[in-house]
Order: sequence, then structure tokens, then C-alpha cells
Amino acid sequence: MKQRLQKGSLLFIVTLFMAALSGCGKPYLSALDPAGEVARKQYDLMMWSVWIMVFVMVVVFAVFLTVLIRFRRKKGDESIPKQVSGNHKLEILWTIIPIVLLILIAIPTISQVFSLGDTKAMDKKKDAKQGALIVKVRASLYWWEFEYPGYGVVTSQELVVPTNQKVYFQVKASDVKHSFWIPSVGGKMDANTDNINKFWLEIDDQKAEDAGNVFYGKCAELCGPSHALMDFRVKAVPQDEFKAWISNMKNAKETKPASALAQEGQDVFKKSCISCHAVTPNDTRPEQARTAPNLATFGEREKVAGILDHDEANLKNWIKDPEKYKPGTKMPAFGDKLSDRQIDALAAYLMQMKAGE
Ligand code: CUA
Repeated sequence: MKQRLQKGSLLFIVTLFMAALSGCGKPYLSALDPAGEVARKQYDLMMWSVWIMVFVMVVVFAVFLTVLIRFRRKKGDESIPKQVSGNHKLEILWTIIPIVLLILIAIPTISQVFSLGDTKAMDKKKDAKQGALIVKVRASLYWWEFEYPGYGVVTSQELVVPTNQKVYFQVKASDVKHSFWIPSVGGKMDANTDNINKFWLEIDDQKAEDAGNVFYGKCAELCGPSHALMDFRVKAVPQDEFKAWISNMKNAKETKPASALAQEGQDVFKKSCISCHAVTPNDTRPEQARTAPNLATFGEREKVAGILDHDEANLKNWIKDPEKYKPGTKMPAFGDKLSDRQIDALAAYLMQMKAGE
């Protein structure tokens, strides 16, 4: 009875774990549910290595258990079985098998490393509009910037890419090392301060549709206290929709304040925020001057600061004391610099920001 109870509780715990772990496999955030060519190749490589490892484990355990049972000391039998140490045939066999297994892993791995790192298309054409689609990714503590050279478009926290098309990335960091990773689509690629790393990704249109056209990206390099909060959103849209989006962004004008309060907010913004934050996606200020996220599409975002629910209350709290939500952030606190009225106005202004109007 007691044993049955223990078995029951064990089964319960295992079921609970399975239920909890199954929550990890979200289509928009799982390397185990690849949504593009790179992620699929990485997944296949991983599974190939896992199966070879499983094969090795099965063989080793089978030999181990056989020896354990067949050659265990029996009562009354003190004889020692035939010793095999120094057996040439065996030694050659267990040297060759691992070599063969390593070759079986090495061949696809090396060929994939070269194919996934092939960015020749990016260097070929000088004009980005005719050649490959290039996105410059810049990682900073703790936000992401995406620049579309050739279009003069800059976005922050939200990467928009076309599906069924190779997108070439040039990845770098502006302060410390980060790593660019879209689990369902591919990566990771180190973002360094002293060099630009290049690679490409492609997203399947069907997979994008399944995921609601939205994937999530992460920083995959421990970069500071808010490393785990350094997320970004990836919008994967059909190619014609992407074209419309980029031309919309290219020609976007600054959003006009829609109310008196928002107008007041714009005045506050122009005094306190504009030196770091741009408000149009085609702001041409040089990179060194882009020290904070571009807020052109802020009203359309799904998160405040990439982590909080997108509402005015969260936005105001964030402006007042960002350190509370993202420890180590470079964004200064405005709780004691601005009045409540000014922060209300600022929030009203920011919440109605849309690009392309
Ligand atoms: Cu940036 Cu971790």
C-alpha cells in the first residue's frame, strides 16, 4: 500500500514537471520548434549529435550491465575470468569507433558552420536597396537598435523583417558584450564592441503565421544585472508588407500631439528627453548620439522598456524610477526632476506616438 502511494506521488511529480516543461515550447520562443532555415539546421545538428550520444550510452551501458551480471563473483567460485587488457583487437576497435563517431559529427557541423556563416551576398552590392537586405543590430545596456542602411530607417526594441528571404545582420555592441538570439529563428551571435559580426537568418512564412507573425529575441550573453530583461520583439511579415512598412517608416513625420495634454508632453519631451531619444524612425543623428531607444513607434509597442505591460501607469512608473524595473539601466530617473503633471503629459504624448502619420 505504502509502495503504491509512493509510486503514485512519483507519477504525480513527473506529470507536474512535464506539464511545466511543456510550457517552455512556445512557437515564438523555442529553439526546439525551428521557424527558419538557420534554426532548423541548428536543430538537426543538435538532434544528430544527441542520437549519436544516445547510441554511445546504450552500447556502453549494455556492455557495463552484461559484465556486471555475467562476471559477478559467485558463491564457491573463486576463479578469475580470462583477462583482456592489452588485447590489440579490442584496443583498435575502441579507438576507431570514437574516431568514426567524431567524423560523423564533424562533417555536417563544419559544413553548416560555413553555410550559416556565408555572408558574401551582403558584401556584393553597394546599394542595399538592390542587394541583400541588411540590418545593423546594435546592442546596448539593456536595449536593442535595428538600423536599415540604404533606407535610413532606425527602430528600437522591435525588429521588422520579411519572411522567406535571407536577412543579413551586422551585429555589434556599444558598451559591453551582448549576444543576439532569436531562439525560434537562430543565433546566437556575439555582439562585440570592437568588431562587427555578420550572419544571416531566414523565417518561414508558414511558421511566422503559426506564431502570429511575432517572435521574441533575447540577449544571450551575461551582460549585467538586467541581462535577463534585455528582450526584443521580432515582427516577421510577408515581403510586400515589409516593403510598405519600410517606405512608411522612411517617410514618417513626427507625430503631432493629439490633445492639449500631449502637446504639453511634447514640450517636456523637447526639453528633457530629445537629446537621447529620437521620435522619428528616419532621424539622421549619428550613432554616437543615439544613446537611448528611438521612440517613434512607442504608442504601437507591446511593452514599456521591453518588459512592462504597455499602459500609461507602467510608463509613468518607468519614467519616475527606471532603476527599480531594470537595475543598471542608463535611463536616468525623472521622479524628482519632473512634476507629476509633467510626467502625466509626457505619458500622454508618448502613448500616442505612431510612425507614418
Ligand atoms: Cu545584453 Cu545580456
